[in-house]
Amino acid sequence: MTNLKSAPTIEVKDLVFGYPEQKPVLRGISFTLQPGERVALLGLTGAGKSTLLENLIGLKMPQSGEIRVQGKKLEEATLSQARRQIGFCFQDANDQLFMPTILEDVMFGPRNYGVPPGVARDRALALLDEFGLVEFANRSAHELSGGQRRLAALAAILALEPAILILDEPTNGLDPSWRRHLASVLSQLPIEVILIASHNLNWIGKTTQRALILADGEIKIDRQTQDLLGDKSTLEYYNLPPDW
Ligand SMILES: Nc1ncnc2c1ncn2[C@@H]1O[C@H](COP(=O)(O)OP(=O)(O)OP(=O)(O)O)[C@@H](O)[C@H]1O
Ligand SMILES: [Mg+2]
Repeated sequence: MTNLKSAPTIEVKDLVFGYPEQKPVLRGISFTLQPGERVALLGLTGAGKSTLLENLIGLKMPQSGEIRVQGKKLEEATLSQARRQIGFCFQDANDQLFMPTILEDVMFGPRNYGVPPGVARDRALALLDEFGLVEFANRSAHELSGGQRRLAALAAILALEPAILILDEPTNGLDPSWRRHLASVLSQLPIEVILIASHNLNWIGKTTQRALILADGEIKIDRQTQDLLGDKSTLEYYNLPPDW
């Protein structure tokens, strides 16, 4: 390693965000994600995980505080560059898939960024193959199962070869063998930072080294994943019983 000190990949400082006419969902969130980290974002249903992730890619703008992506403050002028760096997988795969066929869905992002059609197509077919979807390449997303849609959405994100990956409940609808396969795919990606919101403690134990718990609008816990998963009383305290 060189001794060059790089900027954190993502830096969040005193972030406050609320929906109109509601008390803020995020009430002063601060954390830093360094290159190489794989981090889980845990918290109860309605805690604000998706809201926080959507702030990180500028789909929602905070009322106060700031977000930096690779050192650059996220604002109107830097938004498109940040979105080029971050692959974001929505909690609902339907938000991601809108083309007539999933092959076109997976080609859409790269084509948009100027990748030639032949290259985009080969890349898309390789990803669809990775996720067992090649035979459905010419079907539309609404002709797939929920789990298949999830995998197609992941393929569409990975086709962009992002530097940062943010996944909102990526294992939703996936059977154990696809959950295992997805963990293996993620472990091999040349990606700087992966941040994953999930309710699946077992799976995040296999895919992340650090875990944050979001509760009452704040990051209450920031610990090594294995350490946290072994601490049943803390998990119970935050209403995250590990065996359920
Ligand atoms: N578009 C919206 N307008 C108003 N309130 C919203 C909106 N989206 C979410 N909320 C509220 O904000 C809070 C946080 O929602 P969010 O979706 O971020 O939770 P979450 O932690 O991702 O939950 P889950 O585990 O169910 O995915 C909830 O109370 C929710 O009702
Ligand atoms: Mg959510």
